[in-house]
Amino acid sequence: EKDTLIMSFESSCDETSVAIIKNGKEILSNIIATQIKSHQRFGGVVPEVASRHHVEEVTKCINLALDEAKVGYEDLDAVAVTYGPGLVGSLLIGIMAAKTVAFAHNLPLIKVNHLAGHIYSANFVTELQYPFMALLVSGGHTELVLVTAPGEFHTLGDTRDDAVGEAYDKIGRVLGINYPAGKKVDQMAAIGNDTFDFPRAMVKEDNLDFSFSGLKSAFINRVHHADQIDEELNKDDLAASFQGAVLDILVNKTFKALKQHPVKQLIVAGGVSANQGLRQRLAAEMKKRNMDMELVFPPLRLCGDNAAMIGAMAQIQYDKKDFADLDLNADPSLDF
Ligand code: KG4
Ligand code: ZN
Repeated sequence: EKDTLIMSFESSCDETSVAIIKNGKEILSNIIATQIKSHQRFGGVVPEVASRHHVEEVTKCINLALDEAKVGYEDLDAVAVTYGPGLVGSLLIGIMAAKTVAFAHNLPLIKVNHLAGHIYSANFVTELQYPFMALLVSGGHTELVLVTAPGEFHTLGDTRDDAVGEAYDKIGRVLGINYPAGKKVDQMAAIGNDTFDFPRAMVKEDNLDFSFSGLKSAFINRVHHADQIDEELNKDDLAASFQGAVLDILVNKTFKALKQHPVKQLIVAGGVSANQGLRQRLAAEMKKRNMDMELVFPPLRLCGDNAAMIGAMAQIQYDKKDFADLDLNADPSLDF
């Protein structure tokens, strides 16, 4: 059977990325231009700055992706692009670039949901077995998703307020950590002790939804209170206590979901799936429960935003001939 080569684009937030993916499984190239440095002094992503960077980077990324994969446009079978969720101005740059390549080289265009892409980053490390459960944890999303067949997503639970990565970034800011703060908080948590008593919202409730804004506020209030009375708090302990609460919440809801839907695989994806505490804790909980289940984390370089994962998802749509028109628009608040 003939191989399928897809050129994929990702530009939903602060990473410009172009990849060439073979059969949805093999990464021939995955170029990622990050803009984090340009946003750090603002403490978060500035949409206008992000769009400008995407414009500057996207053509370079295309050329690098082709070079590294050692292929030309004539070898491609399709072009895929993230069309949401994300920043509208950023999404539109990737969409424009993908449409241009598709039109110029007469290739089908595939519109990919960024969240679906994160989940399918697991396709590079395992053979997916349906149905499987996905815990999607990123800067913008916290969801439990049951994937019943290729590209068939059912959201079981969602966050009612902040996403988990967003909570990491906000409490990190209070600790004086640069955006994005998740990785550093994770490192501090590994050193510190869980000594502060932060709330675990909604764990006693039956549903599979999440809430992190109460935890975030409790954390910020505790630090501000200490500032007012000149109390010195151990930052590593603060980080460990925050992470302890986050992990309790994520574990509680994930295993509730797995009890309702026994499956053979749990996929953890999105930026926060890089969290070492989360990786260790989920593995330990699975062992404790004697569960016959594969726990899958993407490799660290595929946890954050990248075009390779978009190519993996796109292959499923390619096989279904699920193609988009050249009038494709961005959908900033797209969900499943
Ligand atoms: O998936 P992603 O790159 O972008 C979105 O689609 O949102 O996720 C970025 C988020 C940021 O909030 C960042 O702080 C968080 O992932 N993150 C982490 C870790 N590494 C990145 N959070 C906790 N622990 C980490 N090790
Ligand atoms: Zn993402």
